[in-house]
Amino acid sequence: MEKNFNTLDDLPAPEGKIVFVRVDINSPIKDGAPQPGPRFAECAATIRELAKRGARVVVLAHQGRPGDEDFTSLEAHAALLSKAVKKKIKFVPDLYGAFALAAISKLKNGKILLLENTRFYAEETLDKDWEKTLMANRLASAAAASGGAFVNEAFSVSHRPQTSVVGLPALLPAFAGRSLERELNALQKATIGAERPVVYVLGGGKPDDCFKILKHAVASGGADKVLLGGVIGELAVIASGKSLGAKRDWLEEKGFAKLLPELKRVVDEQGHKLLLPTDFAFADADGIRVEVRTEELKGSEKIFDIGSKTASAFADEIKHAKTVYFKGPVGRYEETAFELGTRLVLKAIESSKAFSLMGGGNTLDACEKFGVNKKRIGHLSTSGGALLAFLGGETLPGIEALKKK
Ligand code: 3PG
Repeated sequence: MEKNFNTLDDLPAPEGKIVFVRVDINSPIKDGAPQPGPRFAECAATIRELAKRGARVVVLAHQGRPGDEDFTSLEAHAALLSKAVKKKIKFVPDLYGAFALAAISKLKNGKILLLENTRFYAEETLDKDWEKTLMANRLASAAAASGGAFVNEAFSVSHRPQTSVVGLPALLPAFAGRSLERELNALQKATIGAERPVVYVLGGGKPDDCFKILKHAVASGGADKVLLGGVIGELAVIASGKSLGAKRDWLEEKGFAKLLPELKRVVDEQGHKLLLPTDFAFADADGIRVEVRTEELKGSEKIFDIGSKTASAFADEIKHAKTVYFKGPVGRYEETAFELGTRLVLKAIESSKAFSLMGGGNTLDACEKFGVNKKRIGHLSTSGGALLAFLGGETLPGIEALKKK
C-alpha cells in the first residue's frame, strides 16, 4: 500500500484547534452496557496525544446498526473511554444540532468531548454525497473556524463509506491516527511489502469470507501457500473430488455448498498453492476424538478438527514462512478434544520468525486459551470486516479519503 497520507506527525501545531477523531468503540452490549475491550485502549493514545498537544478533541463513533439490539447511545462509552485515555471525557447527547455545536465551540484547549452515536442520524449512512450533508458541513465549519482537522483512528470502519468516515475528510485536512497508521504498516508488511514465502492459514466457520481472501491471494500472487482448515478446508476437500459423504448435506443446509463450483475452479487451477487436509478428527459416539485419513471417511462422521498429520504439515509450512496471515481456528478449539489443530498451528506461528498478522474475535480468544505470547505476533488486529475487505482486494473508502490530494 502506497503511504501517501498524512499522520499525526504532519499535523501542524494543533493547540487551540478543533480536531475530530473518528474512533471505533463499537462494543458488545451486555445488560444494556458496553463491555470494556481492546478497542478503547487502541484509540486512547491518539486522543491523549492530541489533548496533550492542546487540541480541542471531539470524538466521533458509532455503536451497532439501526434496528439491532446493540444500537445504543454512547453515553456509557464515555466512562470507558475516559478510563482508557486517563482523562475526563464529556458526553454530549447530540451530533450536529445546536447543542453539539455549542459544546464544541465552548470546548477548551486540551479537553475532550464524545458526541452521540453517529448512526442515530440518517445522514451518516447515506449511500452517496457524504460531503454534502448538513452533518459534514456543520461539523467541518465548526472545526475550520479554528483551523481544525479530521483524524481517522478507525481502520475497522474504513470499509464503510459513511459521513463520519469519508464526508469529513473531504472537507477538512485529514490525518491517520496512531493505531490506524500501525494497522496500515502491518498490512503493508503482510501484503505488498511481504517477505516471501507468504503463508495464509484460512479457517473458522465463515467459508464465504475465507473464499474471498483465498481467491484474491492466489489470483494476485499475494500468498505462496494457503493452508485450508475449518469449514473452507472441508469444502476444498470436496471440491478436490472427495465425497466427505453425508457431510455434504450439512454444508448444503448451511448454504456453504454454493461455493463449491468456484472453489473447484481454484482447486483445479491453483492446487499447487493450496494445502488441503489429508486427515480429519471427528467425535465417536462417546464424544472421543478419533482421527481418520480423508479417503477413509465414511461420511457419517462429525468432523471437528484437522487431523494431526495435517496439523504437522501446516506447522511445517509455517516454519519455513517469512510472513504468515492467520484467519480463524482450523477446528473446534473451544473443546479440549478438538483443540489440537488450532493449538499446533498457533504455536508454530508463535515460534516462527515470520512476521505474523491475525485478526478476529475467535483468533484472539484461541491465542488467550493456548497462552500464545502476543509479543511473538507481528500484528493482532481488532478489525473484522475492514480487514477481510482489504485482504479480499477491495479499496477502503476511509483510507482513500485520507490520501493526499
Ligand atoms: C466492527 O465492529 O467491525 C466495526 O465497528 C464496523 O461495524 P459495522 O460492520 O456495523 O459497520
